[in-house]
Amino acid sequence: MPLNIAMDGPVGAGKSSIADAVAKKMGILHLDTGAMYRAVGVSAMRKGIDPSDEGDVTEMCRAIRMDVSYADDGQHTFVDGEDLTGMIRTEQASMAASKVATYSGVREEMVHAQQRMAQEHDMLVDGRDIGTRVLPHADIKIYITASPEVRAKRRYLQLSETGKLNGADYETVLRDLIARDEQDMNRKTDPLRKADDAVEIDTSNLTFEESVKAILELVEERKMQHV
Ligand code: DC
Repeated sequence: MPLNIAMDGPVGAGKSSIADAVAKKMGILHLDTGAMYRAVGVSAMRKGIDPSDEGDVTEMCRAIRMDVSYADDGQHTFVDGEDLTGMIRTEQASMAASKVATYSGVREEMVHAQQRMAQEHDMLVDGRDIGTRVLPHADIKIYITASPEVRAKRRYLQLSETGKLNGADYETVLRDLIARDEQDMNRKTDPLRKADDAVEIDTSNLTFEESVKAILELVEERKMQHV
């Protein structure tokens, strides 16, 4: 049985970069499931499908083929053989992803694809419903969180460093983040919530290195208990 680590939490808690660093240190793959919902949202927009149209998006999602592969710069996400990695990190893609992720038909497709990958490899899987839905029997479950203000500040800096702010100020980023939290936590299918058996790590007052260290220590501790 491959080793599976489930990592969930809201946007901007530092989940993806922390997950990347932890997986690298452990020598296992990191599956960023948010990238898959982003790729669905971007694909819909590129095909002229309104992300708010559940029927059309679900139909499209059942028809496309989604793959991920790993390169030196991390995960690449493909739809029908086309690498969408460079297009999925804009605010527009974020909002579209959050919308399409509310559709149960879309989630069903993504959850099955993620489960298949996790069955084949030692993997750290990060998302919103990993501990609760995708990998309910994961070896270790972690819930990463931080205050909305700290998360918005980090997101603002990240967007500004990568030139993707598109004129948005901190207040707009905070408002969008709270809107996305609302959408992620209150959707009917598999909302974001901490699994009962997940360990919560609040990164509000932790540096990136401290967060990575805390998780690696937790993994070691759990491994010792399994010996
Ligand atoms: O983590 P992220 O911001 O890249 O995720 C993009 C969107 O996809 C976000 O609104 C939450 C949603 N998502 C989800 O519903 N389930 C997952 N397992 C991962 C992401």
